[in-house]
Amino acid sequence: MTALRTQYCGELRKDHVDREVTVAGWVNRRRDHGGLIFIDLRDREGIVQTVFNPEIAPAAHTIANELRNEYVIQVRGKVQLRPPGTENKNLATGDIEFIAEDIELFNRAKTPPFYINEEVEVDEALRLRYRYLDLRRERMQRNMLLRHRVVKFMRDFLDDRGFIEIETPVLIKSTPEGARDYLVPSRIHSGKFYALPQSPQQLKQLLMVAGYDKYFQIARCFRDEDPRADRQPEFTQLDLEMSFVDENDVLNLMEELFTALVEEIAPHKKLVKPFPRLSFAEAMEKYGSDKPDLRFGLELADLSDIFAASEFAAFRTVTSEGGKVRGFAAPGCAIYTRSQMAEITDFARSLGAKGLVTMALEGAPEEALAQLAPDKVHSVAAKYLTREQIVEIAQRLGARMGDLLLIVADKPKVVDAVLSGLRSEIALRLELVDPDLMVFAFIQDYPLFEMNEEGKWEPMHHPFTAPRNEDIPLLEKEPGKVRSRHYDFVCNGSELSSGSIRIHSRELQEKVFQVLGYTSEETEEKFGHLLEAFECGAPPHGGIAPGIDRFVMLLTGEESIREVIAFPKTQSAMDLMLDSPSPIPPEQLRELHLNLSED
Ligand code: AMO
Repeated sequence: MTALRTQYCGELRKDHVDREVTVAGWVNRRRDHGGLIFIDLRDREGIVQTVFNPEIAPAAHTIANELRNEYVIQVRGKVQLRPPGTENKNLATGDIEFIAEDIELFNRAKTPPFYINEEVEVDEALRLRYRYLDLRRERMQRNMLLRHRVVKFMRDFLDDRGFIEIETPVLIKSTPEGARDYLVPSRIHSGKFYALPQSPQQLKQLLMVAGYDKYFQIARCFRDEDPRADRQPEFTQLDLEMSFVDENDVLNLMEELFTALVEEIAPHKKLVKPFPRLSFAEAMEKYGSDKPDLRFGLELADLSDIFAASEFAAFRTVTSEGGKVRGFAAPGCAIYTRSQMAEITDFARSLGAKGLVTMALEGAPEEALAQLAPDKVHSVAAKYLTREQIVEIAQRLGARMGDLLLIVADKPKVVDAVLSGLRSEIALRLELVDPDLMVFAFIQDYPLFEMNEEGKWEPMHHPFTAPRNEDIPLLEKEPGKVRSRHYDFVCNGSELSSGSIRIHSRELQEKVFQVLGYTSEETEEKFGHLLEAFECGAPPHGGIAPGIDRFVMLLTGEESIREVIAFPKTQSAMDLMLDSPSPIPPEQLRELHLNLSED
């Protein structure tokens, strides 16, 4: 296999019995059984039990006496069946053991700062400081291997379909994806900066102009935004672009790729096929989110008109001020205790709710809602509502007796954020989520623009997204009504990907920049290259860019993308192993024409 070993430790099986083999790896555990020394030897493929017998190999046995966890050794010896009754069913190599004849100690190891041979909770900062030890652990090795297989599958799949992989530069000019840029000062051009790509968006569009009509890249992207469980300052996308396509071409390709990928790499996962397609409006209406978790129901419904006509002043006022009242039914939760209700209310507050109205419908599911007796309704709002209003609320929320109704009134954005968070919380508490289920879905029909807090139009996605043809005439006068050709690809409540059919004409692209408030000088300065390219024979094109870290996180069931990235940054964007970012010497600053200010 290599000069220093003939087999991986974890590969040894009954077939190797009586064979002379040489393995090499790390001491996972050492046990001294008065005479015999057992070393569990570990490499990336697994663990094998090695036996050092003083009668067979006295010199090796003496060295084995000194071994400690994580020492690096090579052992030559013979494979034999374990004595009957001593097999270890939990180990792939558990039928055999390895009788050492000779050993070489390559390297000693300090006592590690945390257990490598056991899956125990370790402080994340310590894990990241010693990431090379953390990565030695079985869980991380599994994650890294799975990530490799995912990326390899994507490459092979796209290659089979005629896509070509093209690298684009990392030192580029700012490309707007809604985050801050990481900048790199130029030594040669004083006072000028490169930007690291937030994504290769413009470059892939330029590749379409160049005629590479099916492009992909495993692309590293950089965004200076606060890291979160599903966000890192640098991350990886499967970036993809195609020419002469419409929305369905891109979405069908995604559906085929992700179906084949999951079926091949994680066959125990269950998929819903075909992938559901929802409009943005429908997703917001039913789930309060454009990345809905479709593994469970708990659909939302609007109650604004009922509360607007009610005596419940707090909610009535909200509706008269342009707010909304919405809610959903938590099945069987009417029996929640006071403290459980308080937990749910606190959770809603943590999501931005001013308050949460709960309404417990005391009774059994088979009892008819229409017969609901007022004394069976437990809620602060009950005395301000008629019996008919309560029945109507319960019916709209699809409730049954025994359910707990959760109702929020606020600005529409707040209501949606709170209720979509509560949906997930209730699903978790009621164990409605099958951990093996992956429900992919496409969300379409987004508006092209949204109004920001300063009253300016912003692209819902990025400024290169094409409007629907029939809405182009609305661009100047009613930008808020223009629908876009943007789509999102979501899975289990996570946004995996955004994409769109793009603008490919200079005139239309300039119009969109105008709506966004760019002057023609700004447009020329920032995007002149793209606009000029559009005048040189740009084909219709579109694409998408699924986040690989997020997808692998979902596939492994990990709660953070840091668990599927070899060397991630912390929540405060630091690399604790390399101690970066770090100061740089004054000479280097001078060379880059940089002067640091005091603050
Ligand atoms: P978008 O900005 O939506 O689209 O990004 C696409 C996908 O990349 C992943 N992603 C991230 N993953 C980890 N950390 C981050 N900070 C981070 N930011 C984004 C997500 C997201 O859905 N150029 C367009 C794509 C296109 O239009 O083709 C783009 O980058 O999974």
